[in-house]
Amino acid sequence: MKRNALHSLLLASSAALSMFAAACGSGTEGKPWAMRPITRDYTFPIRCGADSPVQCDEGVADGAVVPEGMTVSAADLNKGRHLYINYCYACHGMNGDGNGPASHGLRPAPRDLRMGKYKFDTVASGLPNDIDFSRIIKGGLHGTAMLKWDIKNDELYYLIQFIKTFPKPPCNQYGEVTAECREQLAGYPDSSLEAELGSAWEEVSASGKNKGKLKPTGEPVVPQHYDEAGTVVVDAPANPWVGKEADAIKKGEELYHFKFECTTCHAHYLSRKQIYDYKFAVSPEAPVTYRDAMFYAVPQQNAVQDFGVATMPPDFTMNPLRSIRQGTELPDLYRLIAAGVGVMPSWAQSAQPEELWALVHYVKSLKDLQLPANAARRDELKARLHADKFMPPPPPKKEETAPAEEGAGGGDAAAKDGEKPVVGEKADAAVTPDDKKADDKKADEKKSEKKADKKKAK
Ligand code: HEC
Ligand code: HEC
Repeated sequence: MKRNALHSLLLASSAALSMFAAACGSGTEGKPWAMRPITRDYTFPIRCGADSPVQCDEGVADGAVVPEGMTVSAADLNKGRHLYINYCYACHGMNGDGNGPASHGLRPAPRDLRMGKYKFDTVASGLPNDIDFSRIIKGGLHGTAMLKWDIKNDELYYLIQFIKTFPKPPCNQYGEVTAECREQLAGYPDSSLEAELGSAWEEVSASGKNKGKLKPTGEPVVPQHYDEAGTVVVDAPANPWVGKEADAIKKGEELYHFKFECTTCHAHYLSRKQIYDYKFAVSPEAPVTYRDAMFYAVPQQNAVQDFGVATMPPDFTMNPLRSIRQGTELPDLYRLIAAGVGVMPSWAQSAQPEELWALVHYVKSLKDLQLPANAARRDELKARLHADKFMPPPPPKKEETAPAEEGAGGGDAAAKDGEKPVVGEKADAAVTPDDKKADDKKADEKKSEKKADKKKAK
């Protein structure tokens, strides 16, 4: 199946290529980007340091951006261009716009490589480092059309340098478009995107002296290196839970549902009653609410801006995890949770390594429910969650309460299907600060009554 898909892609790419060649004549003007031979060397600003191909000069801090970081010759970029046409253009397109002939109907859609926006890198901001591209391209993205590419590392180097030429430089961001800038932009794919992309770029230096330079690579949140076989290895910090995996899973479950609230986007894997018991034990005063469809993930609409479509957080017990490679699941999960993915934030600042590792073990335990041997356990979990009709004691009614509030309480409706309960975290997000203040006040007023109610319920 995999091989067939690959084979037909290659056929599609060579057929379309000869069509292009016939249609486009010999001049390069107006040709899609990958059809234009590259005639000049490119300088990519990158960070210097131990994990970078560029060493820092004396007195320069590790991780500083070196604008003249890495120059790649036109000849090397053309090697990459040929590889791109052979392997990648069918999906990512001749202009890098993600609209190649094999892209139609693919969900998720192939990345628009002109945007300079990536999901599975390890940087908090800035472009991914080359080693991220290597891991992504050689590891593939499971559950998408992006297969594992078995490309030799030296060829991969050229390919990566070439795909970095798709995004445009930021030379229009200072309000002044110089002749030099115009010339540079004209050389980039689809110059009409100028206005749209201008804001996507960060300044390299406040003085503007790096106008026209590409966005620099970011600082990795988790370091990586190549092993002798050329495979990318994630250097996660030592795992403090070795030999205590069951404790890690328990801790991770708690962090996932409560402290870090991964469930704002991802599904809950604890029942309504379990969540109530936990929250009541921690703070008996606070009302316990559940978000809509809490056993399902929440589609992330704000991904549309960067990636063209809303993204769905995976259900760990059912969906393939895109960037988690077989055999290195634990460090890969650590990398992902620490660095974030697309609209999912990086947790490296807010979580201690020990907590990140607990989350890793917990997510891995859910992922393991996908194994055929665990199918019965998974079905049992799902059935138990969906059958749970537990309702926390309803908030006490007040005469002057607005009807909308009563509706949100929704006790009766929710009791019927168990799936459409009280106001959730998502609903909270839509509430304006003023509304919220008013609500908080109401909640305060109700506190004493509520406490009594809860005691009754117990
Ligand atoms: C069969 C279609 C297909 C082919 C061929 C293909 N890709 Fe992709 N590629 C995809 C899809 C689909 C995605 C988006 C996956 C997602 O968003 O989860 C993607 C995503 C990517 C990303 C973005 C990863 C990130 O972190 O955001 C890069 C980089 C990439 N591809 C590079 C390549 C390169 C280089 C080649 C050629 C060696 C290639 N692709 C060939 C379909 C393809
Ligand atoms: C703001 C919403 C949001 C929050 C909060 C969030 N995630 Fe995610 N997460 C996502 C989205 C969206 C994806 C899917 C990204 C994609 O494939 O495009 C995802 C994907 C993942 C993946 C799969 C990665 C892969 O390679 O496919 C893991 C693992 C994960 N999240 C773990 C967590 C953990 C653990 C937490 C809490 C510490 C968390 N997430 C919090 C939105 C979120």
